[in-house]
Amino acid sequence: MMTEVVHVDLGERAYDVHVGPGLVAQAGEMIAPLLRRPKVAIVTDENVAKLHLDALVEGLKASGITSVSLTLPAGEATKSWPHFERTVEWLLEERIERSDVIVAFGGGVIGDLVGFAAAVVRRGIRFVQIPTSLLAQVDSSVGGKTGINAPQGKNLIGAFHQPSMVLADTEVLGTLAERDFLAGYGEVVKYGLLGDVDFFQWLETHGPSVSKGDLSARIRAVQHSVSMKADIVVRDETEQGDRALLNLGHTFCHALEAATGYSDRLLHGEGVAIGCALAFELSARMGLCSQEDPSRVRAHLKDMKMKVDLSDIEGDLPDEDALLNLMGQDKKVVDCKLRFVLAKGIGEAFVTSDVDPEMVKTLLRDALGTRSG
Ligand code: GLY
Repeated sequence: MMTEVVHVDLGERAYDVHVGPGLVAQAGEMIAPLLRRPKVAIVTDENVAKLHLDALVEGLKASGITSVSLTLPAGEATKSWPHFERTVEWLLEERIERSDVIVAFGGGVIGDLVGFAAAVVRRGIRFVQIPTSLLAQVDSSVGGKTGINAPQGKNLIGAFHQPSMVLADTEVLGTLAERDFLAGYGEVVKYGLLGDVDFFQWLETHGPSVSKGDLSARIRAVQHSVSMKADIVVRDETEQGDRALLNLGHTFCHALEAATGYSDRLLHGEGVAIGCALAFELSARMGLCSQEDPSRVRAHLKDMKMKVDLSDIEGDLPDEDALLNLMGQDKKVVDCKLRFVLAKGIGEAFVTSDVDPEMVKTLLRDALGTRSG
């Protein structure tokens, strides 16, 4: 089966994202041209190491590349100062040089943490992303946002550091738990909703095959998502404007994640899906898009057996005032004003600060009411 290549055209920081099956096994031949000496440092997590580290090490060996590896605990708590410090010191202990390449092998947590370590060790070392979750393949491995969480909020410490290559092995997705896969799918749907109604329509038809494991449908979904992200990142690498479109659903999502303690009660991609549904509902109430649009968004998410409503989140949620207050912690707050990504229709998102907080509060009250009713 064909590997697709998406070029991220960022001048001297340009790189390719390869999407297809078998890329972990081919990692050696893919990475070899980047190396000055045949040695790489791999950072991964316990879950990925168990399933795929041997295959990666063998894939590198096949091209004469030796590797050292560091395995961190799996989970969001790893994106923190202690594990960051450990990673940085390990890279220095292993005498990883400025001209070497570090491999981030895992989901979004590993990609963000390792990318940030690569950005600062010896003032910047190149790194390759080998994302193993759907969310990391379609979003976090591409575009150069790296970092860790602070006690004050998620992703508040970090740097822009573009990878030198991304290898999105679609076969690896076969080992994901269904819940994790569907959470990543939340980000895939987001691309259709924010900028491509034809892609959304394609997902309405083919989403179930993507979810069931049809490899060519998976390659198409990942490749299309990555190429949309690449286009936006090339237009606005450091998020001065258009890149904020990628945050469709995220203002609501971040409040819900904070309200659920960044726990298993709500995975990030699940929050994005619920947040997209709320963003379309808000857009319809503000008369920006038709009433049919939020229904169509919800229908697709329900078809995919994803979380759509606040009632799909287990346990209690705070009231609408508390949720609105949590939104105020969002990174996108400018001059104390909330910024939302709203839509004029499916595939027509835009960024605005022109939203009446009372309207958001009413929306949340209704959404919470549906929950208890
Ligand atoms: N995940 C949003 C961005 O990369 O800008």
